[in-house]
This record gives sequence, structure tokens and C-alpha cells, in this order.
Amino acid sequence: MYLNKDDIDSYQTPYYYYDLDLLKATLAELVQASDRPEYHVHYAIKANANQPVLDLISDFGLGADCVSGNEIEKAIKSGFSSQSVVFAGVGKTDSEICFALVNDIFCFNCESIQEIEVINEFAGSLGKKARIAVRINPDVNACTHEHITTGLNENKFGISEHQLNSVLEKIAASPNVTLDGIHFHIGSQITKMYVFRELCAKINRINLWIKERGIELNHINVGGGLGIDYEFPQLNPIPDFTSYFDLFGKFLNLLPGQNVHFELGRSLVGQCGSLVTKVLFVKEGIEHDFVVCDAGMTELMRPALYNAAHHIDNLSSVFTKTDHYTVVGPICESSDCFGKGLKMPITQRGDLLAIRSAGAYGEVMASNYNSRNKVHAVYKGRDQVLVPHLTLADITS
Ligand code: LLP
Repeated sequence: MYLNKDDIDSYQTPYYYYDLDLLKATLAELVQASDRPEYHVHYAIKANANQPVLDLISDFGLGADCVSGNEIEKAIKSGFSSQSVVFAGVGKTDSEICFALVNDIFCFNCESIQEIEVINEFAGSLGKKARIAVRINPDVNACTHEHITTGLNENKFGISEHQLNSVLEKIAASPNVTLDGIHFHIGSQITKMYVFRELCAKINRINLWIKERGIELNHINVGGGLGIDYEFPQLNPIPDFTSYFDLFGKFLNLLPGQNVHFELGRSLVGQCGSLVTKVLFVKEGIEHDFVVCDAGMTELMRPALYNAAHHIDNLSSVFTKTDHYTVVGPICESSDCFGKGLKMPITQRGDLLAIRSAGAYGEVMASNYNSRNKVHAVYKGRDQVLVPHLTLADITS
């Protein structure tokens, strides 16, 4: 069956719906809460790299946190200053390193001795001096899902404290790199604020230890990780940035002249995106009926990968009566499930569901598994809705 043009007032599902007004309000609160001369906030582009999102965030004057050469390129093209780019990742390729050097980015967050050697070598041959920060694994438990925990000894990220001495010696012997700071990132979706206090305590000790060796650091990068409310997104659409930045103000002991860098992703863009999907079938199950929708783990992987629970609203149902449903997608995997036994209003074929808090690590992690079409995006900004370009495949069902 084909939809004709007149039918496209309701967009072809599934699609990501981004509320740019909410993003703007979030950024305004962020900018206000982080308004201290020593604070610098970088947006972690990996969370959502859609052009309207990047354009808006760069308009607010944030820096960029990148994990690939393509992200650096995108950031610069979107108006982020190259001088505001930090570049992280355990596996930077030679061409990515050279691209970053040529573009004079602010800082490489280095994760191994070998990486420092390679950056030193390429910087030398390009006649550059690279600013680097050493990413230190502080062995602080972020108390989040194990797949998004990064600051424990068992994780591949950063270097452990016991290696720090040899790293500093290596840097001292590398004429084409200069140590500008130290970098930490202990995990994502952190909701227990005491975790950040523990991080500050570790950083304070390491910062002093380095100073005692006669080395002056210009900056401390505390990474990202501030969580969002997946359970009640309507009640808490904007994270508590004030408490977050005040915590670092209170517990991080900066030495004179030191700056603090933050790399926030999810907390900026998470709540502004929903995945809109249509119910294809409601089928009888043993414990609960299944709501089978046209979006699956190919569009939003977080539930399958991390057991993540996203709040789901039925946008169409007119029923006040509720039932319990297991909401699944069409993909041939048992893990293609958005939630088991969810209490929802009576749900029927054709209803539209909004899977909330999908603005971060949603569309960027989508795949074409099962030869699915690439999911598209719709943006609402003030009084404007941008219609996505629809291909024949999009309007054929
Ligand atoms: N800095 C570094 C070095 C990172 O690795 C990350 C995220 C961030 C900053 C930003 O963290 P945020 O503020 O967004 O928590 N796909 C997972 C999340 C992976 C996070 C990877 N690193 C998810 O869907 O939960």
C-alpha cells in the first residue's frame, strides 16, 4: 500500500522526534550553571551527532569532545572551534592523529604510553607541538551499568596510577608533546552524586602528587557522565546542572591558574529526543500480551544492550483503563524488547508510542540489521517542524 502526499502529515514511523526548544532550554540552564571563568564545557558528540543538534550546541559556545577523526571534522564544520576540541579514545588511528594535529585541536586525551610516542612522532614530522592530557583510570566505581562503567582497574580506558611515573618520564623525553592536563571519565548515566565527590578526592591527590614532581598542569578534565531521569522524563526534563557544577566547585581543589573541563553528552541531549513508533500488532502472550511495534533494537539499542528502561507513552490511546504489556520490536532477536509487563492504557494496532529519553545514544547507535531502512529524524524548534526527506522505501509499507 502506498501513502500519497496528503497522508504524510503524520510522518512515516519509526522516526526520532527532537524537541529543539527543550534542547535550547537545557543549554541555557547549562550555560548559566557553568558560568565560572575556569569552567569549560565540551559536548560529547558521540551522544548525538545530528546536524541541527550540533548547530544549536555550537551556537551556545560549547567546545567539542570527539572520539574519531570524523567527529572532529563534523565538529569543525558545525562551527565548534578547533581550539575547543578534545580528542579521546583508546584506539586513535595514525590518520586521525594527523588530522587532529593539522587542525591544532586543544588537546589529545592520551590513553597509553605507545599513543604518546606516536603523537610525538607525528607532531615532530608535521612541525607541531601537541598538547596532551593523560587519561588516568582512578579506579572509582561509577555505580552504573557495567557496560558504561569506565573508571575501574579492569576497564581498558586510561592508564592506571602505578604507571603514572613512567608516563611522566616518557612525556618529559618527548619534545613534540606538552603535558597540559590530566583527564578522567569514570562512566555514564551516573545518578549518585557522591560518585563525583569520590572522583574529586582522587583527582585532588593526583593533582598534588604531580605538582610535587615540579610539573604544572593547566587543566583538569573531569569527563562527563551526569545522568538523566529515564523513569520520569516529563517531571525532570532538564538535569540538575547547578548541583553538578557546584559539587566540583566545592570538592575539586584547583591549584592557582588551573581550569576545569567537562565532557557532557547524555545530560544535554537525552531528554530532547523520543523514538516514535507504530503498533503493528497486539498479540496474546502467556503472562502479558505483546505489543509489537515497528521500531526495534535496530533503532534504539539501549534496552537490548544495557537492559535500559525507557519510559513509553501511548500517544493515541483514548482509554483510561490500563493493562500490562511486553513491548517488543520486529527484529529476530529475543533481546529486541523495550520493556516487560509495562502498565499502559489499553493499546491497539495503529497506536503511536513515544519511547522517551532517546536523544542520547539512540539514533547514533542505530543499525541496518535485518536490512532495515535508516531511521529518520523530525525536528521541532520553536514554531517549525522540518519534514524529513522521504524515499520511496520510506513511504512504502
Ligand atoms: N567523555 C568520555 C571520554 C566518554 O567516553 C563519554 C561517553 C563521555 C565523555 C560522555 O559521557 P555522558 O556525559 O554522555 O555520560 N552508549 C551508552 C553510553 C556510552 C558512553 C560512552 N562514553 C549508553 O547508551 O548508555
